[in-house]
Amino acid sequence: MSSEKKSVLFVCLGNICRSPACEGICKNLVGDALIVDSAATSTYHIGQSPDNRSQKVCKQNGIDISNQRARQIKQSDFEKFDVIAALDQSILEDIRSIQPKNCHAKVVLFNPPNGVEDPYYMRDGFPAMFSSISKEMKPFLTQYGLI
Ligand code: 4NP
Repeated sequence: MSSEKKSVLFVCLGNICRSPACEGICKNLVGDALIVDSAATSTYHIGQSPDNRSQKVCKQNGIDISNQRARQIKQSDFEKFDVIAALDQSILEDIRSIQPKNCHAKVVLFNPPNGVEDPYYMRDGFPAMFSSISKEMKPFLTQYGLI
């Protein structure tokens, strides 16, 4: 019996705070049952490790995201992934603006209607970011038939 693994790509602005945490939390939940990756819409942090504050909150919850490196979303992602999940409404609009017509991927908002607030410029937004992603991950994966 063969069945191709399903796949999900989490996308935020920098791929150093929210989407790396999503990737780590999702992999922690499903193991290797799914192909899981994350990416940025911007080029700001390409090649960089996740923000220390994101690494810290994940580590405190038993999840190591230190090996991740930021990359930008690319056209082939729209064919490779079944679901592309934007971390907020403006990211969703940016992704839809570069989405090829009739592409394979379903492009959706994670944690609707508000997504996950960008913690980058906040004083201490990372614990709240972690809890909202953790709380939403399983319902999200179930809703889109990924688990
Ligand atoms: P992320 O957070 O999109 O969750 O990775 C941000 C990271 C960097 C910037 C903004 C948000 N920035 O402006 O550099």
